[in-house]
Amino acid sequence: MYSNKIKAITGLSIFVLLGVAAVQAPHQKEKNLKILPKDISDEKLDSIMQTYNKALGVKCDFCHVKQKVFPGDFDYASDAEPMKENAREMMRMTIEINKSNFYFDKNIRPEYLNTVTCKTCHRGEPFPPED
Ligand code: HEC
Ligand code: HEC
Repeated sequence: MYSNKIKAITGLSIFVLLGVAAVQAPHQKEKNLKILPKDISDEKLDSIMQTYNKALGVKCDFCHVKQKVFPGDFDYASDAEPMKENAREMMRMTIEINKSNFYFDKNIRPEYLNTVTCKTCHRGEPFPPED
């Protein structure tokens, strides 16, 4: 009778663990983040990407390629568009500028500081003029 109870508890735990895994799965979608925190929420990631579009005056396809099988959708994790790696360099630089000059509130992750942003320099241009 004791062992039946253990079986029941073990069964229940596995059930609960599977349930938790199923619920958390959507948040593990991002596969190729080298700069942004891996536990970033979909909303935060999306809002950051929207700011890139606005700051550079471009669309998502400036840095992201379409999927091969379903060309109607983007393959956001792919690095096939070289502009994406250029953008990573810019992200590193922007984070570094904020981290070394404007890191006053230590509750914010340096990746999320936005005193200096892409827009500060780009102002709606993908290649800001140098004068
Ligand atoms: C200026 C370039 C640029 C633009 C424009 C841009 N992105 Fe991105 N995106 C990136 C970079 C760079 C990364 C990878 C960041 C990293 O390595 O931490 C990324 C990552 C992503 C990811 C995570 C992919 C994964 O699974 O690894 C998603 C989703 C995404 N972008 C969506 C969008 C959407 C939607 C838009 C348009 C609203 C957009 N991006 C516009 C540069 C860009
Ligand atoms: C301190 C100013 C500054 C900031 C901040 C900045 N950029 Fe740039 N960026 C530039 C300049 C200047 C160029 C043009 C370089 C050239 O023409 O060689 C450029 C060029 C680019 C290019 C074109 C490819 C390249 O490397 O020349 C991309 C893409 C880009 N920036 C994305 C971003 C993104 C995304 C952010 C925010 C995360 C950002 N930049 C923040 C100044 C800045």
